[in-house]
Amino acid sequence: MNKPAANIDVVFSPAEIDLLPQRALANSVAVVFDVLRATSTMITALARGAAGIWPVSSIEEAWALKEKHPAALLGGERHGDRIEGFDLGNSPLEYDEAVRGREIITTTTNGTVALRAVMHASSVLAAALLNAGAIAAHLNRQPARDLLLVCAGTFREAALEDVLAAGMLISLLPGRGLTDAAQMALAVYRQEEHALLAALRRAKNGRALLAKGRKGEVDWCARPSVFPLVAEMDRQGCVRARPE
Ligand code: MLT
Repeated sequence: MNKPAANIDVVFSPAEIDLLPQRALANSVAVVFDVLRATSTMITALARGAAGIWPVSSIEEAWALKEKHPAALLGGERHGDRIEGFDLGNSPLEYDEAVRGREIITTTTNGTVALRAVMHASSVLAAALLNAGAIAAHLNRQPARDLLLVCAGTFREAALEDVLAAGMLISLLPGRGLTDAAQMALAVYRQEEHALLAALRRAKNGRALLAKGRKGEVDWCARPSVFPLVAEMDRQGCVRARPE
C-alpha cells in the first residue's frame, strides 16, 4: 500500500491557536504567518543581517530575556505602537542596516504568540508573502512531512492577509493532501492572487495601517517572494536565517 501523502492543514484564528500547545506536532512542520506585520518584520530584519529573533509572548518575558542577552535589541508592539522603553517597534521599515549582527527580542500581539504556540513542532518556520517562494523551495526539497500553516490573525480575529499567504504557500506545494481548511485558504488565494496589494489594503489590518499613515508598510509586506530566506526557530526558541 502506498504511504499516505503528507497533508497540509491550516488554522485561521487565535481561538484555534490557543489549542495548539496541546496538539501533537512532533512529526509536523509548523509555518507561522503574520503578514501585517510581525513575521514580515522578522523576515526583513533577518534579510538585513540580524543574527536572530527571539519571539516572546509578553512584555515581562521580553525584559526577563533581555537580562540574559543584554546586547539584544528589544522590539515589538502593543496596539501597533512601539512599547515604552523598547528600541524598535514592529514596522519592517525600522529594521534597517542598524540591526546587522544583532539579536532582537520581540513581543507582538499575535505573531509572537503564534510562534510560541507551536514550539513543539519538528520544525517551526516564520513566513510571510516576502519569503513564500523560499519557504516553498525549502519544503519541496525536504522529505514531505505534514504541514500546519498557522495564520496568526489580529487580536481575536482571523486576518485575510495571513490566509492569502498560507494559500500562496499551498499553491507552491503540489502533490500534498489538503484538509478542508487548506482548500479554503487556497481558494481565497486563487481569488486574490493577481491583486494581492489591493487585498492587503482592503483587509482590516491594512485599513488600520493606512489610517495611521503607514501605507509604505502595507506595500512592503504585500510583495511576494522578494527575500530568498528561510527563517527557522532553533531549539532555544530563536528564529534564525537558515543556511540553505
Ligand atoms: C501582531 O503580532 O499582532 C501584529 O504584527 C501587529 C502589528 O501589526 O504590529
